[in-house]
Amino acid sequence: MSESESTRHPFLQGLSRHRGTPPTVVVIFGASGDLTARKLIPAVYNLGFDNLLPADFFLVGYGRKPIPDDEFREIATQAIREFSRRELNPDVWRHIAANTSYVAGAYDDSAAFTRLAAHIAAIEQKLGRDVQVLFYVSTPPSVFAPIITHLGSSGLASRHLGQPHHSKIIIEKPFGRDLESARGLNHTIASVFQEHQVYRIDHYLGKETVQGLLVQRFANAIFEPLWNRNYIDHVQITVAEEVGVGTRGGYYEQSGALRDMIQNHTMQLLALTAMEPPVSFDAEAVRDEKVKVLKAIQPLDPAPGGDTARAQYASGMMGGKQVRGYLEEEGISPESATETYAAIRLCINNWRWQGVPFYLRSGKCMARRVSEIAIQFKRPPGTIFSESAHINLAPNTLAFQIQPDEGLGLIFNGKVPGLATRTQPVKMNFRYSTTFGSDTPEAYERLVLDAMTGDGTLFIRGDETEASWQLYTPVLEAWTAAGRKGMDAYAAGSWGPASSDALLAADHHNWR
Ligand code: NDP
Ligand code: BG6
Repeated sequence: MSESESTRHPFLQGLSRHRGTPPTVVVIFGASGDLTARKLIPAVYNLGFDNLLPADFFLVGYGRKPIPDDEFREIATQAIREFSRRELNPDVWRHIAANTSYVAGAYDDSAAFTRLAAHIAAIEQKLGRDVQVLFYVSTPPSVFAPIITHLGSSGLASRHLGQPHHSKIIIEKPFGRDLESARGLNHTIASVFQEHQVYRIDHYLGKETVQGLLVQRFANAIFEPLWNRNYIDHVQITVAEEVGVGTRGGYYEQSGALRDMIQNHTMQLLALTAMEPPVSFDAEAVRDEKVKVLKAIQPLDPAPGGDTARAQYASGMMGGKQVRGYLEEEGISPESATETYAAIRLCINNWRWQGVPFYLRSGKCMARRVSEIAIQFKRPPGTIFSESAHINLAPNTLAFQIQPDEGLGLIFNGKVPGLATRTQPVKMNFRYSTTFGSDTPEAYERLVLDAMTGDGTLFIRGDETEASWQLYTPVLEAWTAAGRKGMDAYAAGSWGPASSDALLAADHHNWR
């Protein structure tokens, strides 16, 4: 046993033995940013706490602002104190902090990338072993392309290519802003990296309940026979947020609900709900099925009265307080045509789903924070229980509660105890917190770990992003051309605009 191994803290003696991960350097571009502080540093720390980091692990921050190593370690310590799901354990953090450093440089400066390469080579030399490098691009999207290009020209992208410890890259969202820009970004990536090196993030895929959805769907025999147009009436996918745009007005004005949430997060939920069973849980098998189902979606009609609704929140009451409307928010133009709410009706043109509408909605400043997938089943045929004052029947609904109060609920009709025949919808509930407790890893922990170990199952493939943009680009173009015409409003703290209700009412449905 080498000296470094014998003195290693027990918390850090983990992954390389259990899962074969080589010594790893994680380089975060945009390391002084919000995401790094709130999610990435805490994720690394919690992986360390759980003994899941490789025994030889190095964290390198990169950014334009010069930050001495000590100061970066202090910033990271504060981030853990403020944002980690676990309290800072000095023993765990000391070991990670000892291997934490910072490289300053612009994102388009060849000399700075040469310095970064030398920094990594020095780590390798000191360790006496090769390291794999995981680049995490956590900057605004305007600098994604220069970073990727310079990783290519500096040789950093192709380090140890052909071996298991080749370089890998995680790319944050948004992945493009329409089909053309997504194709352009895929093209830039493909000119530097091979697809198996690339991990496009959608943090919803890292959520425990989203992975739970796959297990609940494919590890239980009762659902599959019902999972089709013969039994399912329609599907509702809701990602509602209580927060408004807050301090992110500058970003949000250029984005809107369709780009920020629908095109990525809700479409991932849809793909996992509607895809065919993959032949295995291998990354390619799962992603092949997701792409197939995305490609089977019929083009959307973006005209008013068609398949979409969009709206902005107006002032309203939330938590007993008056909240201002989107157009009054800081950094937002009073003429803004950016939607804070979007609803979509889509049809999947394949054997399993033809004729089953899928309704998607997402909005800011809504009545409650809730993300769920609700599968509504058809009513029983010619029921012997005809509706009356005593007979209250609801369609069976299976609801995957993604967050909060994570779980799975089934609504069915039960008999009210008593001598009269009275029925009432009742709910059978499974809750993660009551069954498993609440110590659940955060999405970014799972995703950083998977990228380190080379598992791309929970990341988006290039063709997947393009399939989704192909669907939504015509909608965005139509909305841009219409400007504010057709933009609805909803009171902050409500469940969304009337036009969204009308979308479902046209099919004799309503939102849950
Ligand atoms: P920030 O705006 O905090 O930027 C991150 C860092 O990038 C900054 O600290 C700065 O570092 C550098 N930077 C900022 N603006 C520019 C610019 N115009 N040109 C070059 N460099 C710049 O971003 P976030 O940390 O909030 O987000 C990072 C990425 O993660 C984005 O792609 C975002 O869309 C995505 N994301 C963020 C979420 C969040 O909650 N924050 C959630 C989901 C995704 P320096 O000056 O040191 O170079
Ligand atoms: C991000 C969006 O991708 O997801 C934000 O940019 C949104 O606008 C966030 O608030 C929601 O994520 P979560 O995990 O809090 O549901």
